[in-house]
Parts: sequence; structure tokens; C-alpha cells
Amino acid sequence: MEIVILPSEAEIARHGADVVARVLAGRDRPVLGLATGSSPLPVYGELIRRHREEGMSFAHAEAFLLDEYVGLPAGHPESYREVIRRELTSHVDLEDAHVHGPDGSAADVARAAREYDDAIAAAGGVDVQLLGIGTDGHVAFNEPGSSLASRTRVKTLTEQTRRDNARFFDSLDDVPWHVLTQGLGTIREARHLLLVATGEGKADAVAGMVEGPVSAFCPASVLQLHPHVTVLLDDAAASRL
Ligand code: GLP
Repeated sequence: MEIVILPSEAEIARHGADVVARVLAGRDRPVLGLATGSSPLPVYGELIRRHREEGMSFAHAEAFLLDEYVGLPAGHPESYREVIRRELTSHVDLEDAHVHGPDGSAADVARAAREYDDAIAAAGGVDVQLLGIGTDGHVAFNEPGSSLASRTRVKTLTEQTRRDNARFFDSLDDVPWHVLTQGLGTIREARHLLLVATGEGKADAVAGMVEGPVSAFCPASVLQLHPHVTVLLDDAAASRL
């Protein structure tokens, strides 16, 4: 694991965008794994800036989202498809048809999950996967107790994650209980994992991920088994290492 502690959000953004830039430049059909949540936002901001000011192009890329709420109607402003459109893809030359996410509004979500794994494989796998980390060590929506070998599937959110995410909804009652998420096994197949964590609130989860035992109780700890992981931290998120 490459742990990079950086002095500012701007440095995190630059470092993260450099990793994505290398993938975009180095592959004919680059496959980006995109994460929602606030952690990757500075990186997305820098990618948008480079697209506008330096001509960085995403036109030849495919993108796959990590996860999606189950039961939100297509087009709901808090569905992760809409969130990523708002935060990144509508600001760069990445066509909607090239942005994929698990279909949380499907009648048969178990089947949608299997088809999603198949679609990632058919695209050739993910070249670089952006990740955040939940305060309980979850990655995507793989909550503590998730199998380290899991595939894309339906999961139930913990109370803590629902509370953490309630800020995006009118009330806690509006936060869905269920999600479709890439499994830890799916995520581990990406060739490069790029995790961003900032702020004191992530310090315990980061310590568990980097220095704790590899355990389903801290899902992010499975990253210790991956051959190519870059973790971008600010001082606060690194404070318990
Ligand atoms: C959600 C997402 C995760 C994300 C986590 C942390 O639960 N499913 O992918 O990593 O939130 O979000 P944030 O970066 O906003 O702290």
C-alpha cells in the first residue's frame, strides 16, 4: 500500500488527477471506476479543470459506479447516477451512454447485480477505481461483516451509514435501507485502487484499513491484499497511523 499524506486538499486533488490522467493517456479504452461521496470531489474538481483548461479528454473512456441505492426512481437527485452526473460526468466529455451503474430501480435487483459484474468484465475490468471510506471502514456499501470475496449484490445499510448519509436527504426516514454495491471481490479486481480520505472523522477507519488485521469487520482492510493501492490522506485522516 502506498500511503501519501498531503498538506492540502489541492495537493490531494492534483495527485489523484495525475493517477487518472496516466490511465486516460495509457489505454485505448480506459475504464474508470467512479465513487460518489464527498471524498473524491476535489479530484473530480481538478479533472474538470484539466478538461476545460488543458483539454484532458474522457471521450474514449468507460466509467462504472461503485454502488447505488435500491428503490430510488431513475432520475432521483440523490441516486448515485444523478450525483456522479452532477459532480463529474456532465462537466467533461464522458457521454451518459458510457457511464454505468448498478440498476437500483430494476424489478429483479439480484439479476441486475449479476449483470453489472458481467458488464464490468466485458469492458475489460476497471483500470483505476476511486474509493472513499465510511466512518465504520466500509468501502462502497460493503458494511462491516461483508465477505472479503463478495460480488455485486444487495446489501442492507447499517444505522450509522444511514445517519451519515441522511445529510443528503430531507430526513433520516428518506434514506433507503437497501443498496446495490460492488462486492469487495469485485472491487479488488480493479488494477489500481485510489482511495481518498480526509478529516478527523476518518482517522479510526483509516488506521483500521492500513494497520489493523485484515478482517470483514473493517472491510477496507482487504485493500492490504491488493498489489496496487494508493491512499491519499490529509494530516487529520492520517492522525491515528
Ligand atoms: C457512502 C458511499 C461510499 C463512500 C462513503 C463515504 O457510503 N457509498 O462509497 O466512500 O459514503 O463518503 P464520504 O466520502 O462522503 O465521507
